[in-house]
Amino acid sequence: MLPTTENSAPALSEDVLTVIKQLENRIHKLESGLPKKYPKVKHLPLKDRKRILITGGAGFVGSHLVDRLMLEGHEVTVVDNFFTGRKKNIEHWIGHKNFELIHHDIVNPLYIEVDQIYHLASPASPPHYMFNPVKTIKTNTLGTINVLGLAKRVGATVLVASTSEVYGDPEVHPQDENYWGHVNPIGPRSCYDEGKRVAEALCYAYAKQENVAVRVARIFNTYGPRMHINDGRVVSNFILQSLKNQPITIYGTGKQTRSFQYISDLVDGIIKLMNSNVTSPVNLGNPDEYTIEEFASVIRTLVGGSSEIVYLKSVEDDPQRRKPDILKAKKYINWSPKVQLKDGLKSTVEYFRNELIYESYKNTRTQS
Ligand SMILES: NC(=O)c1ccc[n+]([C@@H]2O[C@H](COP(=O)([O-])OP(=O)(O)OC[C@H]3O[C@@H](n4cnc5c(N)ncnc54)[C@H](O)[C@@H]3O)[C@@H](O)[C@H]2O)c1
Repeated sequence: MLPTTENSAPALSEDVLTVIKQLENRIHKLESGLPKKYPKVKHLPLKDRKRILITGGAGFVGSHLVDRLMLEGHEVTVVDNFFTGRKKNIEHWIGHKNFELIHHDIVNPLYIEVDQIYHLASPASPPHYMFNPVKTIKTNTLGTINVLGLAKRVGATVLVASTSEVYGDPEVHPQDENYWGHVNPIGPRSCYDEGKRVAEALCYAYAKQENVAVRVARIFNTYGPRMHINDGRVVSNFILQSLKNQPITIYGTGKQTRSFQYISDLVDGIIKLMNSNVTSPVNLGNPDEYTIEEFASVIRTLVGGSSEIVYLKSVEDDPQRRKPDILKAKKYINWSPKVQLKDGLKSTVEYFRNELIYESYKNTRTQS
């Protein structure tokens, strides 16, 4: 119940005021944009303008990539089945003459004319990819076959979003691209890990047999605004727990390590890789390594809450160490991450703070 003063309207809590402000801004944006106004895109001469397909383009990484390529002046088509992606992530481009959105599941073939394909469609976080392991395998195998088949037909270059999970629970540290990995083929993560390994194998089979131009990005943990609120990995878990003043839960000893890259760095890296001539896999990640324990306390300090840190039983097949060796990316595509953890976390915390407020507002509306 909201606090009231005699003879006056109920005082509104700060959270409600923030939501109202957000909605007002949105309405203002919509009203002032009739006809709809879009972010200003560069004008590219036809010879430089590419027709680019992004599978999974309504997701976290995909939508940031859409923004960058649209702003550069390319023609972008997003294909997404909206399993974890959201229209909200790309709504600011809907209706733009350079943008197209296709609601389509990539396990089914697709026929369009494109020059480049960024193949990102796949659930990425453990709760999402374990939700329907068979579908995860189909997306990464049949989906990748469909994308490579399309590339073969139209002569497009394909970049496949692979993952550091292909290294499994690594026995070498840091992990470079020559390491073959240590993956449990029948464990709970195998639908994703092995799915991505097959996706890589498919790339090189199509490259060798059908001459398809392929790029393989082995992406390490990435964070930033537009992450799914139920992502379930450390970044979102710790931020949400801190924002709600709940205990921060660490699985295992907390001495296991991770390294985190900010989304804008990843987008720089995948675009550079696509436009390079490097066909073998390239790690894209931030080599700054933190123990999970250190990471929890960085987030707690940044959020400023009073959450205690609690330790729970470790998770099956949880990798103990993760750190990319990025020498190859530095040398061959002139890329290295730029964003410091604290800077990236600030905007991510802000994003989650707004998401939480919006969720709680939506819940109140549903109940009333
Ligand atoms: N975010 C990371 O830290 C990370 C790390 C390593 C690899 N990757 C890879 O990068 C890619 C993007 O990850 P993300 O973090 O943006 O995840 P995300 O879940 O936000 O985005 C994935 C997108 O793919 C869509 N999708 C899933 N299955 C599909 C299907 N069958 N057909 C069409 N669309 C489908 C989802 O709806 C979503 O929009 C994934 O391939 C993921 O494996 C991400």
